[in-house]
Amino acid sequence: MYRSHNCGELRIADVGSEVTLSGWVQVSRDFGGLTFVDLRDRYGITQLVFNMDDNEELCSKARTLGREFVIKTVGKVRERSNKNPNRDTGDVEIEVSAMEILNASKVPPFTIEEDSDGGDELRMQYRYLDLRRGPLQRNIRFRSKLAIETRKYMDSQDFIEVETPFLIKSTPEGARDFVVPSRLNEGQFYALPQSPQTFKQILMVAGLDKYFQIVKCFRDEDLRADRQPEFTQIDCEMSYVTRDQILETFEGLTVHLFKELKGIDLGKFPHISYDEALERYGSDKPDLRFDMEFIYLNDDMKGHGFNIFDSAETVVGIVAEGTADEYSNKQMKELTEWVQRPQIGAKGLVYVKYQGDGSIKSTVGKFYSDDVLKALGEKIGAKAGDVLFILCGEEEKTRKQLNELRLEMGRRLGLMEEGDFKPLWVIDFPLLEWDEESERFHAMHHPFTSPKKEDVQRMLTGDHATMKALRADAYDLVINGSEIGGGSIRIHDRALQQKNFDLLGFTKEEAQAQFGFLMDAFEYGAPPHGGIAFGFDRLAAVMNGQSSIRDFIAFPKNNQGRDMMIDAPSPVDGEQLKELGISLNE
Ligand code: AMO
Repeated sequence: MYRSHNCGELRIADVGSEVTLSGWVQVSRDFGGLTFVDLRDRYGITQLVFNMDDNEELCSKARTLGREFVIKTVGKVRERSNKNPNRDTGDVEIEVSAMEILNASKVPPFTIEEDSDGGDELRMQYRYLDLRRGPLQRNIRFRSKLAIETRKYMDSQDFIEVETPFLIKSTPEGARDFVVPSRLNEGQFYALPQSPQTFKQILMVAGLDKYFQIVKCFRDEDLRADRQPEFTQIDCEMSYVTRDQILETFEGLTVHLFKELKGIDLGKFPHISYDEALERYGSDKPDLRFDMEFIYLNDDMKGHGFNIFDSAETVVGIVAEGTADEYSNKQMKELTEWVQRPQIGAKGLVYVKYQGDGSIKSTVGKFYSDDVLKALGEKIGAKAGDVLFILCGEEEKTRKQLNELRLEMGRRLGLMEEGDFKPLWVIDFPLLEWDEESERFHAMHHPFTSPKKEDVQRMLTGDHATMKALRADAYDLVINGSEIGGGSIRIHDRALQQKNFDLLGFTKEEAQAQFGFLMDAFEYGAPPHGGIAFGFDRLAAVMNGQSSIRDFIAFPKNNQGRDMMIDAPSPVDGEQLKELGISLNE
């Protein structure tokens, strides 16, 4: 027997019992006659004591233990004289009477403790060591619970879990496909699914009515902290539903998950239209943990002789509370440089400081008298101590820049509170986006998204300008500024789907070759349907207040899409390529 208890289990009530524990040596401390070892497993850490006076041979052996050695120990539980209140097992220790070294360990390349001194790449290369650390163990466990609770909820709502294939034909979700050569069909390739989109729609035509799957998706896109080339979705589809029924069902899922896993009651989620989100926050995924809404200032700031404002399409600002006296000229200069970085791209930053003593200080004081600025402050509700930050320029760009500044001020002022969760639905996205460069429309969500009912006729018959204004029955779930999920009501009619492909620049032949199976299926009694997919890794990260999804994935890839542990991707054998009918040009 390797263990009678695990390393997180023993308490004061166990004092006196004889126990067997196995685990890893976290740390060993030698105090002359006494050697203390912290023994760790998934469940916790228990202190072992070896006493030179009781057993010299055993104690000498304990002194040879290195970090991460795997040992089995037998001993008696006793009360600790100096208790450790930070540990569940901190009241007790084991007086060891026998020990067996089950396996030795090389010195690990980084410390395996709550905080590691290892860099990202090293930690990924030795992922098995990194995964022994408390934070990762907790994350992976959280992820497992999240999956289990998701299944419970979906089952309670009568959804059927169906697996869809990984070797498929391309599904365009806006990224590149990963392709897989076919040996049996030389010169032909499968694509790994960017999502099970077309299959889940086919399942609705097949009468499954409510489908879900916790499923891997593959996208060959540029990677960021919240994007991995293979990631997981909670993917769902429903038949005979309205948008609001879908939102209700998945609001229900989100509420269930937060309640079960975090003990948090989220309440009702607000609905904000895409246009309104852009107008108020400059983003289609606003962080609602703090206000700082946009204030449009064209009427107030134009016509005072300040040419930069006068010639701008939009003058727009935000009020950062309580910063006027704290922000020195130097800090203002640094903030101005921050918005001028190429990533943000603002030309400059204008501010009006409503200082604590009632005086006003502004970069544009030359053009606006104190009385004008004071009246403006009163109108927009800026109090003594607040700063009004103003950007100007072309509307779309300026809103984006001010969104970045709003988020940065939120961060600097500590307004993104840990443990605070602000979900919302963003609805009524545009159906199509016009791309000037390629001179064609792109689907804002994906090509299977339906226009809103009232826009269907306009889509079938309208001109170019009409197409730009079409609204989709598409929606995103946003939590704390992160896009957690997205979905839509789908087109279920062949002619409308064909029209959408036309607008997206597919020829009839291309559309038939790629998606003929779906349009054919629509001709055999396709029910009205719609659905959504949540980013599972993102949800796990956001629920834990983290922006990177990496540490919620057991084996993630680095920013170059490499698996550092197994060293993939890698070249393949010439023979293997020959069999696949692939020749690489040197
Ligand atoms: P969409 O492309 O919006 O929709 O994806 C749904 C959600 O998946 C997450 N996500 C990602 N997570 C990690 N890494 C990535 N590379 C990545 N890409 C997306 C996001 C996103 O909100 N088939 C549609 C859904 C539908 O219409 O039902 C789809 O895939 O959280």
